[in-house]
Amino acid sequence: MNTKIVKTDENHIDDIAIKEAGEILQKGGLVAFPTETVYGLGGDALNADSSVKIYEAKGRPSDNPLIVHIASMDALPAIVKEIPKEAYLLAEKYWPGPLTMIFRKSDAVPLTTTGGLETVAVRMPSHKVALALIEAAGGYVAAPSANRSGRPSPTLARYVIEDLDGRVDMIIDGGEVNIGLESTIIDLTEEKPVILRPGYITEQMLAQALGEVETDRTLMQQHADLAPKAPGMKYRHYAPKGSLVIVEGREEAVVPYINAQLSEAKAEGLKSGVIATEETKDAYLADCVKCAGSRQDEEAVARSLFRILREFDEEEVQVMYAEAFPRDGVGQAIMNRLLKAAGYHVITV
Ligand code: TXA
Ligand code: MG
Repeated sequence: MNTKIVKTDENHIDDIAIKEAGEILQKGGLVAFPTETVYGLGGDALNADSSVKIYEAKGRPSDNPLIVHIASMDALPAIVKEIPKEAYLLAEKYWPGPLTMIFRKSDAVPLTTTGGLETVAVRMPSHKVALALIEAAGGYVAAPSANRSGRPSPTLARYVIEDLDGRVDMIIDGGEVNIGLESTIIDLTEEKPVILRPGYITEQMLAQALGEVETDRTLMQQHADLAPKAPGMKYRHYAPKGSLVIVEGREEAVVPYINAQLSEAKAEGLKSGVIATEETKDAYLADCVKCAGSRQDEEAVARSLFRILREFDEEEVQVMYAEAFPRDGVGQAIMNRLLKAAGYHVITV
């Protein structure tokens, strides 16, 4: 398949390109596009064949449901059985934005889109290109992150092209995304709202809007006997090609510990890397030291994490260490992704 690549950004939306992309989706084709979180791989959410094509293009197991993206609140009733009051509260505050809510699905949503589940994940993104595309496509775009299954979600069109060139009809290059981690997912189908994936909209923000919220216990540590409620969270994700270990502790202990490990790697002739912060980046002796941002600016860290993981692969780094981040606020989402990338390998010093 020949993949057409077009450029358009939020300030200068190319209406002709969006119209063409919308037509591709309406005909059952696939279009990758920017959102404020990460790039998405879009297909018509109400077309069962399009969802099958998405799974194929990603190389994704078909029991891992897709998020349906909408562009207005008017589009919601047709795809869900009921809208709980919590959904109105959250939509009021956080839609359009990086929040996905799980509802009971209506018959309009094919089971291929929901990976066989009777529930459906819905998000209204805030990226203007995404919103224009959803409208042009008829209102319902199923879109997982636009990476090949198992790789970090793409934060730049370059990475979408790397993973999906030749596998989709069109890729819309809208520049670097703003947030860099996938949306927060909250399940509203149980008695109490449960966070299934942490993100930029934090537990504290959700609790403030709803009162009590729970967090899926599998998110921050591995449980041998407990499966995460979001099917996608059980897969090893974002795994770099080399080995990655997270080192948690006080800075005065973390830096020397990592440096000692780095000299061992060097002695073995292995190429090494560190995910460092502004505060520590000059202290490491690794072959590739990547600064994720300042500890004072966790949003910057969130934005650069997936790019750094991909750069380590490009540079064929074999042994990697990452500093840990506080497990609350946006830090919870950063740590959740880092833990998955590291296969939950954490050393406390
Ligand atoms: O920010 C995002 O959410 C991005 C952009 C493109 O919007 N999309 C994204 O999609 O991250 P994806 O497919 O990579 O991740 C969707 C996650 C998976 O872990 C999946 O298992 C979960 O959402 N999910 C989807 N539908 C669900 C459902 N009905 N019940 C539980 N989990 C669900
Ligand atoms: Mg994904």
